[in-house]
Amino acid sequence: MTDRPKIFVTRRHVAETEARLAANYDALINSCDDIMPAADLVAAADGMDAILICVTEPMDAELIARLPNGLRAILTLSVGFDHIDIDAARARGIAVLNTPDVVTNPTAEVGMLLLLGAARRATEGGRMMRAGEWTSWSPRQMIGKEITGSALGIFGMGRIGQTIADRARAFDMTIRYHNRSRLCFEEEKDASFCASVEALLPASPFLVICAPSTPETHGFLNAERIAMLPDEAVVVNIARGELVVDEALVDALRSGKIAAAGLDVFNGEPNDINPAYLELPNVFMTPHIGSGAERSRAAMGDMLLDGLDLLLLGEPVPNRVV
Ligand code: DGY
Repeated sequence: MTDRPKIFVTRRHVAETEARLAANYDALINSCDDIMPAADLVAAADGMDAILICVTEPMDAELIARLPNGLRAILTLSVGFDHIDIDAARARGIAVLNTPDVVTNPTAEVGMLLLLGAARRATEGGRMMRAGEWTSWSPRQMIGKEITGSALGIFGMGRIGQTIADRARAFDMTIRYHNRSRLCFEEEKDASFCASVEALLPASPFLVICAPSTPETHGFLNAERIAMLPDEAVVVNIARGELVVDEALVDALRSGKIAAAGLDVFNGEPNDINPAYLELPNVFMTPHIGSGAERSRAAMGDMLLDGLDLLLLGEPVPNRVV
């Protein structure tokens, strides 16, 4: 018998997190690291205090209704919690903990990587070299767009959007943003608030999408909004695939209305993404790696386990969503 917290862990984690799980918890880890059928997950959660999930385990109302009585918390290794039906968890009295703050810097880094990679045609250049097609240097070869001194539009000015703005300031970019509400003076700094997306988009030759996935933001970048962007804009998405209407973006990438896209997140990821993205040379892609850096992954695990410890002690939990 032990009174260590019992936790079911749906995926393998970085060494630091697994070491802490082994040292301080009765942890059952899905060591195959596969994506479990819902029925297996429900069975494995039986008798547990908490389950540690990832964005790969959507928790809809139906699944949450089947979770065993006694489960105290769902810990998600993500700042985003759009894959969890929060109302259903609340109704069952199950706490949901996420990982804000610790993902901010690495995700903003990937935002800058995508912005630069898309603007400077990294996909085309890399492919050309690997195919042995770079046979001579030419003044007209691989001409891209310089981000320095240009205007950057940010849709969603939370922690990650604000950090991208800070990084972009180092490139002398002029920052404009749209957010549900205007930031306070200290957070806004020199950025200009656009009260509507209609005001933001025409002023955004470079656009980064950082807003959370909600019913209001789904399909944000559709054909109508793409038409509002300057010709040959560069678009980056580090939020969620659902914010983009893929067919509209693909059409615009084909026509040249949008010069290039940098994408870290996709509708239907990982196995059912729009195949056109894989063919288009003006798409620079990464496989949802925004928070995937050594320090942040370990910090994400610590934040969730710290939160669970507090929850089980009956203390307030700073990273509790519900
Ligand atoms: C997040 O933190 O939401 C990232 O997308 C990883 O899941």
